[in-house]
Amino acid sequence: MTYEEFKEKVTSYGQEHLIKLYERLDEKGKAKLLSQVAGIDFDGVRKLFELTKEKKEFKDFKIEPVEATDASALSEEQKNEYIEIGTEAIKNGKLAVVMMAGGQGTRLGHSGPKGTYEFGLDGHTTIFETYIRQFKEAEEKYGVAVPWYIMTSKDNNMETIEFFYNHDYFGYEEGIKTFFSQNELPMLDEEGRLIVGEDGLIKEAANGHGGVFEALVSNGVLEQFKQKGIEWVFICGVDNILARVIDPLALGYSIKKGLLATSVSCIKANPEEKVGVLCIKDGKPSVVEYTELTDELRYAKKENGELLLSEGHLLMNLFNVNVISDIAKEELPYHVAHKKSDIVDEEGNVIKPDSPNAYKFETFIFDAFDRLPVLGVLRYKREECFAPIKNAEGVDSPETARKLYKDYYKL
Ligand code: UTP
Repeated sequence: MTYEEFKEKVTSYGQEHLIKLYERLDEKGKAKLLSQVAGIDFDGVRKLFELTKEKKEFKDFKIEPVEATDASALSEEQKNEYIEIGTEAIKNGKLAVVMMAGGQGTRLGHSGPKGTYEFGLDGHTTIFETYIRQFKEAEEKYGVAVPWYIMTSKDNNMETIEFFYNHDYFGYEEGIKTFFSQNELPMLDEEGRLIVGEDGLIKEAANGHGGVFEALVSNGVLEQFKQKGIEWVFICGVDNILARVIDPLALGYSIKKGLLATSVSCIKANPEEKVGVLCIKDGKPSVVEYTELTDELRYAKKENGELLLSEGHLLMNLFNVNVISDIAKEELPYHVAHKKSDIVDEEGNVIKPDSPNAYKFETFIFDAFDRLPVLGVLRYKREECFAPIKNAEGVDSPETARKLYKDYYKL
């Protein structure tokens, strides 16, 4: 893109502030900004800004509870059958794990990738390392190194790769396959202007965990799955250290029931818990995020006194590879997050806000659920599957997760 093209483009989209900011950059910075602007879909940016003015109303939807299979209520016979089917599939190399580690982890406040955070198990164990236990146990048990793919953001990709390299892949080099980055979207200020950071470039942020489908396709990972005969992919977040990443029961359950996807859930601890809930929205599988749940729905009860919407969505979902390419064909809806972000103004001053001043746009993995004919839901007891690390202290913190982890593994 030439300077003239840049000027014309940003002017026609009301982004003239970039011109002054451009002038302040050195030659290298100028070239970078031009190439950034060339890659931005300005009509798309306009549409994203329109979203910030929309108010989400759930009262227009019919929200019903989802049916779940309680793993602890299965008969021994049924459970064994599922486990046997799942075990066979794992032994035949049909399962892979995709861990989504592209988040910013702002609440935790750790400066590196969240997976590199030492959560204090024995002084130095990092989040990434905790999963190695499951991978190695599975390798011993099933005789295969279940492939582990890690999704990063453009921001933390190099640091994540270096971390594994510096730790000799925790002895699991055979299984750790690929690090692949998800896409980014520009951040906007409250007037819809592209935000510029201290480096003089447009600030972009990872496009949410829903970006995993597109990233699997565009990075050729889905193709790799097909070539390797991988049929099932367990996609989870990086920050639940009790995530059941290799679970023959969930896999066998999905295969036996002819499902294309299964979500592993547990019952919400209380109505206020900050976790999305699985539900049926207008007849289709869905999740209502905790930030989007109205009080009416949050506290609604069934006739028997139980919470109406209690099936927590834990970001642990098993997908058949065939549905991933279908899902990736169509964009997922965007959600708006109002965040605090340092901004460089036209005069080159760095503005450090006290309250949210910036919009970030994300897609969510569960918005793909309504593209499935049916979603299996397999419920575990909370203490068997959920120890999230979200906050630096208090609820869902390293301290609470450490306790849950130690209790589960009897350490
Ligand atoms: P969260 O929604 O908890 O976000 O992500 P976060 O970025 O980790 O933390 P906060 O909100 O800034 O404090 C849940 C999971 O989804 C992944 C995260 O890495 C985490 O494992 N994720 C989130 C991505 O991989 N990419 C994203 O763009 C967003």
